[in-house]
Amino acid sequence: MEPTQAGQVVVIGSGLIGRSWAMVFAGGGFRVKLYDIVQQQITSALEYISREKKELERCQLLKGSLNAQYSEFSLCSSGSQISNAIYYYFLFQECTPEKLELKKKIFGQLDLIVSNDVILSSSTSTLLPTKLFTGLKHVKQCIVAHPVNPPYYVPLVELVPHPETEPSTVDKTHALMKKIGQSPVKLTKEIDGFVLNRLQYAVISEAWRLVGEGVISPADLDLVMSDGLGMRYAFIGPLETMHLNAEGMTNYCERYREGMIHVLKTFGPVPDFSGEIEQQISQAMSEKTPADPEHLNARRAWRDECLMGLAKLKKQMKSN
Ligand SMILES: NC(=O)c1ccc[n+]([C@@H]2O[C@H](COP(=O)([O-])OP(=O)(O)OC[C@H]3O[C@@H](n4cnc5c(N)ncnc54)[C@H](O)[C@@H]3O)[C@@H](O)[C@H]2O)c1
Repeated sequence: MEPTQAGQVVVIGSGLIGRSWAMVFAGGGFRVKLYDIVQQQITSALEYISREKKELERCQLLKGSLNAQYSEFSLCSSGSQISNAIYYYFLFQECTPEKLELKKKIFGQLDLIVSNDVILSSSTSTLLPTKLFTGLKHVKQCIVAHPVNPPYYVPLVELVPHPETEPSTVDKTHALMKKIGQSPVKLTKEIDGFVLNRLQYAVISEAWRLVGEGVISPADLDLVMSDGLGMRYAFIGPLETMHLNAEGMTNYCERYREGMIHVLKTFGPVPDFSGEIEQQISQAMSEKTPADPEHLNARRAWRDECLMGLAKLKKQMKSN
């Protein structure tokens, strides 16, 4: 369905992720309704979107016009405000706090009022679709669409189906994400951590161990990623890296198979992420960026500026 025919997207929860999704959907041509139980959250989301729009314009990264209509409503417990015009909605993107019972309640309410072709999507980072959607009448229309923060500059979205999700729901969500400029990937089944966090935790785990064993300092460890591996990972993934770092994948395996297995066998058990090593790493991180809101926010703003620059570069490289 084309967005122009599709009516509206509803974003439930207008915090950090909800307001970003609203921008992404609006940039893709959808009209967006933002819901929250806290009116101030909607006000602050609209202010945020207006500020970001100016910044995106300045950096020539604006997708579409972003002139979507953002309506201000709170989600009442019966869901009746949503049901007023329910047949015009194309997708619900749930962005409430990571609490299973709260999310189940919201999907339970939506289940009572939605039509048979709407997509019910959750932004959850950790909750499996079988925990969220099992037992819903509209389970075939349910999916997890897990974004990466901040979604406007980091376009990946992991699509994770429930075992009973219709393939057409996955396909429609995939097409929608492409349409709005995101980069969707399909998981064929649910798995703890989905894919992004499994990869991230593998890296964090080894980083922790190397610092803990005194092999490298915390600051240098981070440089290995930001000025080393991360440079190429912004453009090609680990598998393509293998393919390019030899005369193709088969040749890479022939050359490096034994070495990789030898090193991987020296990896230890899962760290407990506490105690002395935690203190050491926390101290090193706080020397660079003190862990108070002012310093953390300043560093986050710098990070987002960098991501914006990278998004621009990637766009240029693709069009070459
Ligand atoms: N923050 C991240 O980096 C990130 C990344 C990917 C996915 N996620 C996922 O996105 C979801 C939202 O995370 P966030 O960081 O935006 O949280 P947040 O706390 O910033 O925002 C949650 C919003 O939901 C609102 N809310 C609470 N109960 C509600 C209800 N019943 N109806 C409507 N609104 C309600 C809150 O008032 C708040 O504005 C979580 O599931 C999280 O796991 C977060």
